[in-house]
Amino acid sequence: MSHNTIAINQTRQDLTSYDEIWLFGYGSLIHKVDFPYIAKAFSSIAGWERRFWQGSHDHRGTPKSPGRVVTLIPSEGSTCFGMSYQVTHDVFEHLDHREKNGYLRFEVNIEFEDGEVKAGLVYIAAEDNAAYLGPASEQAIAEHIHNCRGPSGENKEYLLDLAVALRSLEVDDLHVFAVEAALKEMGLQNE
Ligand code: SIN
Repeated sequence: MSHNTIAINQTRQDLTSYDEIWLFGYGSLIHKVDFPYIAKAFSSIAGWERRFWQGSHDHRGTPKSPGRVVTLIPSEGSTCFGMSYQVTHDVFEHLDHREKNGYLRFEVNIEFEDGEVKAGLVYIAAEDNAAYLGPASEQAIAEHIHNCRGPSGENKEYLLDLAVALRSLEVDDLHVFAVEAALKEMGLQNE
């Protein structure tokens, strides 16, 4: 599958048929909110875990030197916590462009803090996309992140901002915090 998913995403759901659209964000969509929204709420989706396994050719790296950004991997029994946004369907024109590097929109059940569950959407970069990098040790991921930058800035800024945002939401993400710790241990975060 091509890593540019704009055209594919436009055919995946008929967004005009939704009365209310909720988008679940688990990576940069938590802390880099460059789109209008009607409401936002801390929430979770069951059966998924964050991993720095997706390549970024367009934001935190380049085609020659892709950065590493998060995607979700299926994980039975796990819960991924993040931030959901209620948006209008036209906002997806911007979001599909922003998330075009391998991410497809999937329908998912989002659980809110009061226990209510609503159907929503989430962008996931699955392992069959051309920009997928896959697993590596957390040390290797930290070193990779240190060496990359792209049009949206330093790759390490993406990691450090995500870790700060997760901590402020009181989300304990062992993988993200291990990559952050490896980066900090190398003394690389301030260079
Ligand atoms: C997300 O944040 O929900 C998708 C991945 C990203 O843009 O970092």
